[in-house]
Amino acid sequence: MLTERWRINQEYPEAGLIAAAAEKLSGGAVVAFPTETVYGLGALALNPEAVEKIFIAKDRPPANPLIVHIADLSQAYPLIKSWNPMAEKLALAFWPGPLTIILPATELVPAVVRGGGEGVGVRMPAHPVAKALIQASGPLAAPSANRSGRPSPRTADEVFEDLEGRIPLLLDAGATPGGLESTVLNLNAEIPTILRPGGVSRAQIEDCLGREVNMAPELGPAAALSHYQTTAQILVATTDELGEALNRLSGKKIAMIANNITGINPLTSELTIYTLATAGEFYTRLRQAEKEHIDVLVLVRDAGLPWDEAMEHRIASAIRSFRK
Ligand code: TXA
Ligand code: MG
Repeated sequence: MLTERWRINQEYPEAGLIAAAAEKLSGGAVVAFPTETVYGLGALALNPEAVEKIFIAKDRPPANPLIVHIADLSQAYPLIKSWNPMAEKLALAFWPGPLTIILPATELVPAVVRGGGEGVGVRMPAHPVAKALIQASGPLAAPSANRSGRPSPRTADEVFEDLEGRIPLLLDAGATPGGLESTVLNLNAEIPTILRPGGVSRAQIEDCLGREVNMAPELGPAAALSHYQTTAQILVATTDELGEALNRLSGKKIAMIANNITGINPLTSELTIYTLATAGEFYTRLRQAEKEHIDVLVLVRDAGLPWDEAMEHRIASAIRSFRK
């Protein structure tokens, strides 16, 4: 399959391109498009045959449910059995934005989208291209636009690396502003539970709801799957532990992720250093390490890195995936 790649303006997407992409979606095709977090691979959420194509293009395990992306609340209501006050508060506070809310689904939502479960994850993305496309096409089921198990893509080039020849169309609006995926919050539970930390923090959610929420990524349907795989082994060390760690790794090609290297001494000459301006650059570095044939990627915990709960979760997942 030939993958077409259309350049599209990221702030003011060309109406003709949006209409043409929406037409492809209406015909049952999948289309990769940018969101404010990462690129997604979309299909009409209410068309199960179209949604199946997402799983095939990504090699995605069928039991892993998909987020349904909406452009406005009127697109969400028909999908959800009981829109509740918590959902209302969260939507007002964080939509459009990187928060996915899981609620009981109506029969309209195909089983393939729900991963066989009862809930549907809904999110209103903030990217102008995503907004315009979903406005034109209707709700889109969309996972991150990577091959299953790989780091999520922030650029159209990264989508191409993983999916060229497997999808008909990619809307290229340059790099996405975020980089880490949305927070996935299950409201279809006795206590609201974060199944994946992300762009909206636990503290922000607790502030908004005025109550505590659980953090339990191990309960999510994707917990047992491999994520963020690269060919580099990932290691976390403090500046103090670094010397010993590097000694143990002698002979290997090492890259270190650190923003502040003043405490890091002495440096061996062969060391590559990557910086991380935002947690969103982590996936870019994973892909870069692979291209540069790095054997071991050392994250220096106390070297000024943007180290939040979402980043911690992605690092742990990447480490687990390497071992598999
Ligand atoms: O930022 C994002 O969330 C990106 C952009 C494209 O919107 N999307 C994304 O989708 O990261 P995906 O499929 O790569 O990750 C979604 C996660 C998966 O771990 C999935 O298991 C979980 O959300 N999820 C989705 N729907 C769910 C549901 N109904 N119940 C439980 N977990 C769900
Ligand atoms: Mg993903």
